[in-house]
Amino acid sequence: MSTVLAVATGTGNSLFAADRIGHDYLFFAEDLISGKSVFPDDMDRLGIIFPVYCGGIPSAIQHLVSDVLAERDNSALGYIFAVATNGGLPMNALSDLDKELQDHGLAMSYGAAVRMPDAYLPLQKKAVSNDKAREIAAKAEEKLRIIASEIESEKIELPGKGLLFRTVRRFSRMASTPRQNGKLRIDSSKCTHCNTCLRICPQGNIREEGGGIVFENSCISCFACYHRCPEGAISYPGAIGQYKGLVETSRLIRR
Ligand SMILES: Cc1cc2nc3c(=O)[nH]c(=O)nc-3n(C[C@H](O)[C@H](O)[C@H](O)COP(=O)(O)O)c2cc1C
Repeated sequence: MSTVLAVATGTGNSLFAADRIGHDYLFFAEDLISGKSVFPDDMDRLGIIFPVYCGGIPSAIQHLVSDVLAERDNSALGYIFAVATNGGLPMNALSDLDKELQDHGLAMSYGAAVRMPDAYLPLQKKAVSNDKAREIAAKAEEKLRIIASEIESEKIELPGKGLLFRTVRRFSRMASTPRQNGKLRIDSSKCTHCNTCLRICPQGNIREEGGGIVFENSCISCFACYHRCPEGAISYPGAIGQYKGLVETSRLIRR
């Protein structure tokens, strides 16, 4: 019998949360989708740890449920729990996941949301300061201790449907669809070709071409590349500062 955590993360907040929840295995959601990692047959507890994107779930979590979980024999799976990390407005994310699971014949037993430092740049162009990030992380850590013990004791706590559930769900599905982010730029005079950006991109959306870095068309705007570039060589219009995150960059390497 084993507890498995499936984690979606851009800037590492959800990995920070996952580290604080007891588990036997931890996999990136994208690796489970690609088949690089496989759910163990004896999985009886599954935790889905993810960032709230546009009031809903990231596309990787949607695919994890519809393309991977729905395709396996889940008869041994007794307890499905979820932790939604967010910037203070989790909206419908947990009920969105609950609905996605139900649509595929599964049932969520417990869901909790935790506020974390927000790395999203299009709204607030200034990266969260180190002091503010530390303050938010300390509160998150306290909340995660409670969440971890509730999960350990298999508490049942189902998320209620938020306001305008169907409308928000439709919007967040649309807004979270991977697409080209034409606004991210590489300053080639600063880039040292360390390849950190392409190695941590959860989408595999960055590649090297002709000695330069090229963004493809499936960006989820997680801003991991922007924040984690050791040289600050990636820019976004009007954005200043970098959020260095709560886990080591080496933990975010995927390829
Ligand atoms: C594309 C995008 C959309 C987001 N939408 C929301 C949102 O609707 N509500 C919210 O509270 N936080 C939102 N956030 C903030 C993230 O949920 C939060 O920073 C999360 O902890 C990031 O997790 P990660 O570091 O594991 O990627 C958004 C972040 C991104 C990148």
